[in-house]
Amino acid sequence: MKRILVIHGPNLGLLGQREPAVYGRITLKEINNQLNKIARKRKVNLRIVQSNYEGKIVDLIGKAKDKYDALLINPAAYTHTSVAIRDAIAATSIFTIEVHLSNIYSREEFRQKSLISSVAQGTIMGFGVKSYILGLEAIIDLTHTNKHR
Ligand code: DQA
Repeated sequence: MKRILVIHGPNLGLLGQREPAVYGRITLKEINNQLNKIARKRKVNLRIVQSNYEGKIVDLIGKAKDKYDALLINPAAYTHTSVAIRDAIAATSIFTIEVHLSNIYSREEFRQKSLISSVAQGTIMGFGVKSYILGLEAIIDLTHTNKHR
């Protein structure tokens, strides 16, 4: 069974109440429920983590290569600032899909750069929860199980 690590970055635990005009009313729990439903249907194993701490995210990614076949990540605000998260993905070369609820290129100028996109296999943004769904489906369709673990 494929094993996929899902990381939600800072402040995504506040979805539902956080800037609903931008992110809608969906909660993180509802997003996770939708991801888990797909995982059950497509018979893959998901571990889902939300963290506000850059170092914790770096640690998780650093250990991910041995434990997971792919990474689905919404780095949230760290998208625009974190060389450390970018380097962790590059160091492990784990198959990575970056997702965003909003289209970062149609927002404030400081958001219009991702340090993560250049080390991800692909980026999906602007479709709300559907960005996550498409990202997970892409991972399931495009990755192979690493049987040599
Ligand atoms: C976000 C976009 C980021 O700019 C922001 O800091 C977030 C959420 C998104 O999903 O649209 O926290 O990653």
